[in-house]
Amino acid sequence: MNSRLLGTGSYLPERVVSNAELSETVDTSDEWIIARTGIGQRHIVAAGQTTGDMAIAAAQKALQAAGIDGRAVDLVVVATTTPDNTFPATAGKVQAEIGAAGAFFDIQAVCSGFVYALSVVDALLKTGAHRTALVIGADALSRIVDWQDRNTCILFGDGAGAVVLQAEPATGAPVRGILSTHLHGAGATRDLLYVDGGAGSNQKTGFIHMEGRDVFKHAVAKLAECTLESLEANGLNVADVAGFIPHQANQRILDALAKKLEIPADKVVSTVAKHANTSAASIPLALDDAMQQGRFKAGDVLSMQAIGGGLAWGSALIRL
Ligand code: UT7
Repeated sequence: MNSRLLGTGSYLPERVVSNAELSETVDTSDEWIIARTGIGQRHIVAAGQTTGDMAIAAAQKALQAAGIDGRAVDLVVVATTTPDNTFPATAGKVQAEIGAAGAFFDIQAVCSGFVYALSVVDALLKTGAHRTALVIGADALSRIVDWQDRNTCILFGDGAGAVVLQAEPATGAPVRGILSTHLHGAGATRDLLYVDGGAGSNQKTGFIHMEGRDVFKHAVAKLAECTLESLEANGLNVADVAGFIPHQANQRILDALAKKLEIPADKVVSTVAKHANTSAASIPLALDDAMQQGRFKAGDVLSMQAIGGGLAWGSALIRL
């Protein structure tokens, strides 16, 4: 079986917060944020709006793009660090709202969540256990950002992106769908990027903390490493890839990755200027943005790579 990508969709909250607006509350400036991150603005959820709401909106758009009725979906997976509840999974809300049946669960791998989710769902589709899956990356990191901490609050935004994947009998080469996924993690580096306080086990929610420079260095090295790993696994090279869709954390990370792997700049999808870092939502948001612009066509190979808290990282290669 192959896991074919049938459609993409996304959702961004209405409220846009500019760098200038942030500089009214913390000691920062539009110039600093643009120069160090490439971020120009971020979307922020409204009071009462949740990750689940965004996930549902993105899922509906992906179903529409795929031409699939929600009732045909038998697997819903939401990658998120900011679920609506400790349990049940946010994916259950999506399942109910779109009228799907079958299995649902959330995946927590922070900014790598979408790639982790693709990997798990690809495996489930390939075994024949499920046929039609919605894979959603959705996060409202604004809810766990310390808005007084200029080291972190300028970096993040909210949003959701979704894809519909369907199992299709393999009919020989070239494979259309997910070619391979490669997951990694180093729990020993978990102190570089974390939320303090914990969650259900100690009843406190906390804020994001990050050793920015260290994470930056790991990001460039690991993103490059797992991208090459996926290309090698498929006997492909950079020139065979139509588009690279990295996790959108910082334009300087995207530029460094492109430089390291000698990727032409126009092959790297970048939405960091308008979305900021939306954690698990960042890759599917960027993917949908590129699809909406008609940047890719059937048969194109896309390479996705992410790294975030954990540290956890990974890549996915897919042929449209
Ligand atoms: O999504 C998971 C993956 N996350 C990432 O990949 C993020 C990786 N890290 C980064 O993107 C960058 O490290 C940051 C954007 C977080 C920071 O950029 P940097 O170039 O590493 O800056 P820095 O932390 O070394 O700080 C440079 C200076 C410091 O001042 P001093 O010590 O040189 O006087 C900071 O205090 O900039 C200062 N600074 C700020 N100034 C204005 C830090 N934050 C700000 C700010 N506005 N918002």
